[in-house]
Parts: sequence; structure tokens; C-alpha cells
Amino acid sequence: MKLQIEKYLAEVQSFTTTSLEELEQFRIKYSGKKGILNDLFALFKTVAPEERRDTGRLLNELKEAIQLKHDSLKAGLGDNDNKPEKLFDLTLPVTDDQSGSRHPLAIIRKRIIDIFGRIGYTVAEGPEIEDDWHNFSALNFAPEHPARDMQDTFFIGSNPEVLLRTHTSSVQVRVMEHTQPPIRMTFPGRVYRNEAISARAHCFFHQVEGLYIDKNVSFADLRQTMMYFAKEMFSPDTKIRLRPSYFPFTEPSAEMDISCNLCGGEGCGFCKYTGWVEILGCGMVNPAVLTNCGIDPKIYSGFAFGIGVERITNLVFNVKDLRIFSENDVRFLRQFGSAI
Ligand code: PHE
Repeated sequence: MKLQIEKYLAEVQSFTTTSLEELEQFRIKYSGKKGILNDLFALFKTVAPEERRDTGRLLNELKEAIQLKHDSLKAGLGDNDNKPEKLFDLTLPVTDDQSGSRHPLAIIRKRIIDIFGRIGYTVAEGPEIEDDWHNFSALNFAPEHPARDMQDTFFIGSNPEVLLRTHTSSVQVRVMEHTQPPIRMTFPGRVYRNEAISARAHCFFHQVEGLYIDKNVSFADLRQTMMYFAKEMFSPDTKIRLRPSYFPFTEPSAEMDISCNLCGGEGCGFCKYTGWVEILGCGMVNPAVLTNCGIDPKIYSGFAFGIGVERITNLVFNVKDLRIFSENDVRFLRQFGSAI
């Protein structure tokens, strides 16, 4: 009897079908009233006592295999006879509870790009995996210059020429190498730095950098453009202040603060009770950078700026910890559904 059960077991395990009708025949053949399983259980009563244990175990195994095979084939087929037109009722009204929403960083990135778009800035993107030239050397970071430490870089171990870009200034280089002025562009994208993750820093973040090169571009143009941006982004009564700073690729350079829009300049935890928050770095493009990229600094001048998208998003939506942007928690993300 054991051999007989084993034969059925192999038969059941190899059975397959895509037709509900055949599946029903399978069920009747094995588990029906006059089916194989019932026959075998009847026969089991005649089995010698010393054979009972093994035979019983095998019989139960067969019973389970039949059930399993039947259930799994049935689940695959559904009770719709596998006809596609029966899978969906296309006339049912659509429910909107599954619709997604824009990520808050995407909302703010778009607003930044649009604000500059209104004064003639077009958009360019470039690779996140960069080479030393575009990320550093062309931007006047001297070899071994300590300025490279300002942006803790992820280098590719086997080839120090290859790295994850630390800013989208690399895209500015790529554009300048192929375009003669006037150039008026923004450069959105994700950038990477080797920083310990905290509420204020992450190993990646997002920037929108910008570049304006033409004849007679001055620092006054830079300041006016940055003020326009701050007022458009936040509110018409936002104040700005420029503090002297240093970047190898701009000279002179500045960091720009805006009056803290969380406390209105009164002083709060976010602005460290100063009333000001830093939102971007900027400056006049260093003539050495123009030369490196094939633009004549005797004819042209320009300014550049780099805006941190997370920073602006924190301020606009009052988000205090940037880690939440990359945690994919829908309870957080859904709150921005209508803020397009
Ligand atoms: N590239 C700079 C950074 O990522 C930002 C910047 C851009 C500063 C352009 C000045 C001019 O820190």
C-alpha cells in the first residue's frame, strides 16, 4: 500500500492546470466522496499493525499535498475563470485613497526652479558620479588644498579620480565648458558628503545651484537676485544679510542669511536665538574658474549661488529634523499632498 500512496503523491505534486474545470476534476478524483483518498483510508483499516505508523504518516502526507496543491492552484486562478475582462470592473468609480503626493523636497525644489525661471533661468542636470576635474580642479580647488576637506567626499576606493559629487557646481563646469555666455541657469540635484547623520546633516542632501554669466555682471546684480529669491520664496518682508565667506570658486564669496521665518527674527531654537538663518552660499565666479572652462574673464563676469533644498524645506514647512525626509514614512509624506 505504501508504494501505491507514494505513486499518488508524485502524481499530485506534479499536477498543474490553468483551468478551473480541470482543477475541479482533480479535487473529485482525489478528495471526492468516491475519491482515491477515501478508498485509501478504507484500505488502511486492513493494514497490519506494525505497518500502520508509516503508512498512516504517508497517507496524511498525501492528504495534505492534495489540499495544498488544490488551494495554491485555486488562488492562482481566482474564481473568475482567468478571463481578464472578469478581473476588473472598469465601470466602477475610482477611489482616490491610493493616490500619492509630491515629496516635500520635490515641492520646494520646483518652487526654487520656478522662482528663477520667472527671471529667465533655464535648468541643467548632470551626473551624480563625478570626476575630480568637474567637482574640484576646474573649480579652483588646488591639488592637496585643504579646501577639499570642507566637503568630506566619498571617493571610489579603487580610483580616487572618481567620486560622488559634493555639490552641483560640477554641473556648472560642464555647462560652461560647452556654452559661451550669456548663461543663466539653475542646477538641481542630489549631492553627497561624508557626514555623521543628525537632525541637521545627512550623507546626502539636495541643492539647487545657480549661475549667471554675461558682460558687466556685478555684485549688485548678485545681491538683488538673492533678495528677489528670498522675498519670493518666503514673504515680501523677509530681510537678507550677506556675510563674507570663502569658496575657492568665487571671489568675493558670501553666505546669505534670511530673517528667521519661524520666529520672525525674534530669536528661537531653530535660529539659535540669533534671528537669522543661513540659507545659501554665493559669490562672484572666480576668473580662474572661467578660464578653466574656456570663458574669457576679460570679457565676462558672473555670479553663482548654492541653495540647500532641505534647509529651505525645513523653513517653509517648519520641519526640524531632516532625517524624516528620507525615512519614507507615509504619515509624514501625505501631509504635503495638496502643497503643489
Ligand atoms: N558649491 C557650494 C557648496 O556646495 C555652494 C556655492 C555655490 C557657493 C556657488 C558659492 C557659489 O557648498
